[in-house]
Amino acid sequence: MTIRAVVTGVGHYLPERVMENAEFEKLVDTSDEWIRSRSGIERRHIAAEGETTSSLGANAARAALADAGKAAEEVDAIILATSTPDLTFPSAATMVQRELGMTHGFAFDVQAVCAGFVYALTTANAMIVTGQAKRVLVIGAETFSRIIDWTDRTTCVLFGDGAGALLLEAQEGEGSSADRGILAADLNSDGRHRDILYVDGGVSTGTTGHLRMEGREVFRHAVEKLAQTAQMSLEKAGLTAEDIDWVVPHQANIRIIQGTAKKLGLGMEKVVVTVQDHGNTSAASIPLALSVGRANGQIRDGDLVVTEAIGGGLAWGSVVLRW
Ligand code: ACO
Repeated sequence: MTIRAVVTGVGHYLPERVMENAEFEKLVDTSDEWIRSRSGIERRHIAAEGETTSSLGANAARAALADAGKAAEEVDAIILATSTPDLTFPSAATMVQRELGMTHGFAFDVQAVCAGFVYALTTANAMIVTGQAKRVLVIGAETFSRIIDWTDRTTCVLFGDGAGALLLEAQEGEGSSADRGILAADLNSDGRHRDILYVDGGVSTGTTGHLRMEGREVFRHAVEKLAQTAQMSLEKAGLTAEDIDWVVPHQANIRIIQGTAKKLGLGMEKVVVTVQDHGNTSAASIPLALSVGRANGQIRDGDLVVTEAIGGGLAWGSVVLRW
């Protein structure tokens, strides 16, 4: 008998305010046509004053719990992936814990930028299979609008705010790739690439800072590393790309998503795409896409799903799971 971490609920939350590409034409020297053709993004959601990463995350967590038919009292742990926590400390995860009225269990943040949700899922899986927790809320939540330089056209048009959450529960499996739940994961990082994607502030500078990115360089690493990690986790699970029902990639740029699918030998009909409506929501983008893909009937029970992401660090990775 093998213990598996199985998805039993999924949900998301998006701030009410939608910002269309055209609005950027008034802020910086850009156009709807440039943003669409270079990134695939058409609009993104922007958090209202007073909304924070933890409030977005708590709303997504409530939606995932409702989907699973479970109460917060039944959850053992919260793992929240973010690079934009409300405060330097305490963790946004403990703030969600408080908002949900949970006074037991444990909660902590994971920071791996856009790869954060893949890291958080892998951590939750490890805790479930080793018996540390039976039911874990895994949340990706971000307010990137707060760290964007709104005068820098090369970055400000690309990002958005939002949150998504999964409830993972321990269930018994047979130990084969036919089991439901997380089947394999692959994590990587390479700190030599710090300068192509970073925030120029933080504790050492006494400022929050702004996101800085050499987009072309990040792009160059992305397709190759994403295809490699997806292949690696499939191999660990004893599966191949032919077994995939859905790829749910980090939603940064439609051209990266298309390039990675092509390298894996998959048609775009097997890829969940939300980048047009959400922009890049960093650690929130995969759970948001899982939630949308589930709600619109794409992802069904028993489907083999591969998630993959790359972000600042560089940090990248993938998870193979059967829904
Ligand atoms: N509007 C109009 N022109 C623009 C804009 C804009 N918003 N932004 C840049 N340009 C200009 C550039 O200045 C450049 O002009 P030049 O040729 O005169 O110098 C030209 O457009 C082309 O710029 P490139 O950077 O070469 O454009 P590219 O086709 O590479 O697209 C993009 C840029 C969208 C950023 C792309 O490189 C990309 O998506 N990179 C990856 C980003 C990513 O995946 N990030 C994920 C991780 S994010 C995280 O971890 C937080």
